[in-house]
Parts: sequence; C-alpha cells; structure tokens
Amino acid sequence: MGTARRRLGLLFLAALMAAAPGTHAGITSAYRRKLEATADMPFDADVFRLPTGYNAPQQVHITLGDQAGTAMTVSWVTASEPGSSTVRYGRGSPDPRKMKLSARGTRTRYSYVNYTSGFIHHCTLTGLKHGAKYYYAMGFGHTVRSFSFTVPPKPGPDVPFKFGLIGDLGQTFDSNSTLSHYESNGGAAVLFVGDLSYADTYPLHDNRRWDSWARFVERSVAYQPWLWTTGNHELDYAPELGETTPFKPFTHRYPTPHRAAGSTEPFWYSVKIASAHVIVLASYSAYGKYTPQWTWLQDELKKVDREVTPWLVVLMHSPWYNSNGYHYMEGETMRVQFESWLVDAKVDVVLAGHVHSYERSKRFSNVEYDIVNGKATPVKNLHAPVYINIGDGGNIEGIANNFTKPQPAYSAFREASFGHATLEIMNRTHAYYAWHRNHDGAMAAAADSVWLTNRYWMPTHDDSI
Ligand SMILES: *[C@@H]1O[C@H](CO)[C@@H](O)[C@H](O)[C@H]1NC(C)=O
Ligand SMILES: *[C@@H]1O[C@H](CO)[C@@H](O)[C@H](O)[C@H]1NC(C)=O
Ligand SMILES: *[C@@H]1O[C@H](CO)[C@@H](O)[C@H](O)[C@H]1NC(C)=O
Ligand SMILES: *[C@@H]1O[C@H](CO)[C@@H](O)[C@H](O)[C@H]1NC(C)=O
Ligand SMILES: [Fe+2]
Repeated sequence: MGTARRRLGLLFLAALMAAAPGTHAGITSAYRRKLEATADMPFDADVFRLPTGYNAPQQVHITLGDQAGTAMTVSWVTASEPGSSTVRYGRGSPDPRKMKLSARGTRTRYSYVNYTSGFIHHCTLTGLKHGAKYYYAMGFGHTVRSFSFTVPPKPGPDVPFKFGLIGDLGQTFDSNSTLSHYESNGGAAVLFVGDLSYADTYPLHDNRRWDSWARFVERSVAYQPWLWTTGNHELDYAPELGETTPFKPFTHRYPTPHRAAGSTEPFWYSVKIASAHVIVLASYSAYGKYTPQWTWLQDELKKVDREVTPWLVVLMHSPWYNSNGYHYMEGETMRVQFESWLVDAKVDVVLAGHVHSYERSKRFSNVEYDIVNGKATPVKNLHAPVYINIGDGGNIEGIANNFTKPQPAYSAFREASFGHATLEIMNRTHAYYAWHRNHDGAMAAAADSVWLTNRYWMPTHDDSI
C-alpha cells in the first residue's frame, strides 16, 4: 500500500472503531512505565527524618474512632521513654495551651523476633463536631507536636465528599511519588486497600520498616483519616522465626473503629462518611459460612440505609475480578462466598489492591454458577458493583505487567503503571471517579475516569463504559 492509501485505510479503521458503539471493547492501555521495581528509600531519606526534640512523638496518624464520624483515634510512637498518652485538642487555636479539651489514651509495645517497638500510643478524641476543624497536640512533658484535621461532614444523602484511593503503597521512591500526587489531588480521607509498609520483605521482617513507613506517610495521615484494610503484607505470620500471631505489628500500630461497627476483630468493620457507607472486608481472615466475618457482613448489609448514605463502597485486599497473571484468582473463594450478597445489596464500588497494576471493570456479575449447572461466565449485570483494582501504589515488588489475553469482557480499562485514584461523590446520584498515573505530571488529566451513577437511586442507568 502507498503511504496515502495506508493513511486512508487507517482513517477508515479508526472511523470504524469510533462508530462501533455496542461493542465497547475494553482498553488495555499500551502505556508502560519502566518495569523494574524501584528500591525502598534509604533509612536516611528526608521522608523518614525523626522529629527533633527529646522523646518527640513520631509516626502520628489518625483514623475514624467511631461509625458516624464524631470520634477520631490518634496514634503515635515515642522512642526513648513512655511519656504521656494524653492528647489535647480544640477548635480555634493551634496553640496547645489554648486547646480546651483533652483525652487520655493507652500505651502498648510489642516485640518481633529481636526487634522491640517504641511506645505506641492510641487516644480516641470524642464528641467532635461534624465538619469542624480541630487542632490537636501530644507529647506533653517532653516535646509537644501539634497537628490538625477536619471532621468529616455529617452523614446525609447529598453530602459531597472526595476520597483518595490508595493501595499497596510501600516505601519506595515510587511510593513517595504516589503520595505526592495524591496530596496534590486533594482528597479528604483515604480508603487504603491494604499492604502498608512491606517490612516483611526484609530479613526477620525488619520492623524498623514499619516505623519508617509511618514517618513517611505522617505528612498526610496526621491531617486526614486513612481507613485501613489488611493485606497479606500485614500478616507477619512467620513460624520459622517463632512469630505465630498473625497481624501482630499491624494490630499494635493501626487501630480501626471495629467495635463501634459491631465487629469482634479489627480486620472487618464499617464507617459512614458523608453520603458513603464504607465496608472493609478481610481477605486474610476466615470468611466461610458461619465464621465471625460472614455473620458480621450478613448483619451489616441489613443495617445500610441508602436513604441516608446512598453510596455503598466495599474494600478488600485481594480482588475478585482481576485479569492479570499475578495473583490470578486468589480472590475467588471470597467471591464465591460473598458476591451474590453484594449484588443483592446493590453495592456501588468494590475496591481492592494486591495486584500491582490498575484495572477497572464494567458492571458484571458471576452469581449464577453452582456446582452442577456450568454457568461460570461473568455476565453484564447493572445491579453489580464496579470493581476497581488499585494495587499500584508503587511498592518494592514492582509492577504486575502480565495481563491475560484477550482482555475479558468485564474488564473496562487496565494498565501496568503506578498511581492512585480519587472518588468524588457529588450527590446521591453522581460520583466522579478518576485514576491518575504517577508518570503524568500532578496537574495532568486523569488517565482513566468515569462518572458513576448510584445503584440505589439510578439502578437501571448503565454507567459501565
Ligand atoms: C537482629 O538480628 C539481625 C541478624 O542477626 C541483626 O542484623 C540486627 O542488627 C538485630 N537487630 C537488633 C535490634 O538487635
Ligand atoms: C518525597 O516527596 C517529597 C514531596 O514531593 C519531597 O519533598 C521529598 O524530597 C521526596 N523524598 C524522596 C526521598 O524522594
Ligand atoms: C503470566 O500469566 C499467566 C496466566 O495468565 C501465567 O501462566 C504465566 O506464567 C505468567 N507469566 C509470568 C512471566 O508471570
Ligand atoms: C448531581 O451531580 C451531577 C454531577 O455534578 C449533576 O449533573 C446532577 O444534576 C446532580 N443532581 C442533583 C439532583 O443535584
Ligand atoms: Fe498484597
């Protein structure tokens, strides 16, 4: 073919593709970042710097302290001696002496092989006013540090809210880039889908990497709540090292408001934020029939009131819909157990991590199958959630670039790059979802985005493109 004819042919092909509505073939983005894993930032990196002053509180982080957002749990570590577990807080002034309220927390520490943690403090601030800005301070008696946060708005059907969605972050130079990009995109709380520090990739699970990770993310999580999900890198189950209590470092360091949600374990729970009801599930805790998590989820789904919180979002670590060779089908047993419940409940979005790439599904379900009928193919289902795989935070293990071919019908967009996403709820019917790859500048347009419509208020609207 001559150049002109070839160009014509290409134009024709492009026109054909553009003019083929009903087909909606999924997109496997050709964009690739470099494939090799980047190194963890060294211990002397700026992001791991210790705060100055004797026994200064470090690794400060906050998470919601109850279900409806009038409590916040503050956690931090002191290294030299126990110090005070008191937090002073108040509205109006960043000066600790002018903070009118105070709460006394608790203190713990743990050992892991030959590592002994610092003194870990947890203190829940209660009686907060929805939507108000608070200053808080701790370290009294030694070095005082102060921070601030804004309490999420009161739950209600049309209350707007912007979430950050981050998973599998780790502490590499890419992790730092992901966090910086998220900061410039400006969410008000993070839904974190598991795998925090990757300390367990070091000999003896070097728990100093739990400390460094918490110092690294303090710049965000001391100022806005992050909601934690447990991933496989939180297990720290190492019988060969004599460590047989699963989740030991995680449970000592990262409390969740599980009791307020009627849960008996910190690994599965729920919160209400603005117009969203967020349910956190645990991929690495039992979920078979009659187990505590199974019983809890069954009760929990009955409690969701879509008139108050129309947006129903579910978090887990191991994805149910993943068309990457990495961790392929690891989420299958949990999908078989729970998928029909989530479809019946008209869940809007399911967020997962674990696979270190990005993928978004159309609205599909695979709930017809039983052991004899052979109906094991996912089918389009407008009552089903959109599945988003956001395990691309940038950790030491590198990118997962082995997508299955051809792209399955349920997969709308997939790309092997690091990044984060945001979910911006506008009102009861509309939310804007956007995924940002790190390689694009902070101000660049989203690499993948979609307007999601609410499954309770607009159940027959097809937003799954
Ligand atoms: C723990 O043991 C390892 C390996 O023997 C050693 O490199 C490390 O310094 C020890 N850590 C502490 C805190 O003693
Ligand atoms: C991490 O990112 C922050 C903010 O962009 C920057 O100030 C800092 O120098 C970075 N640190 C490393 C080790 O890359
Ligand atoms: C890629 O994934 C396929 C399964 O889809 C698997 O058979 C293959 O071994 C994987 N390749 C690599 C290099 O991991
Ligand atoms: C909800 O938000 C969307 C997107 O901003 C807008 O188009 C729609 O009109 C809003 N609906 C109501 C009832 O305000
Ligand atoms: Fe994982």
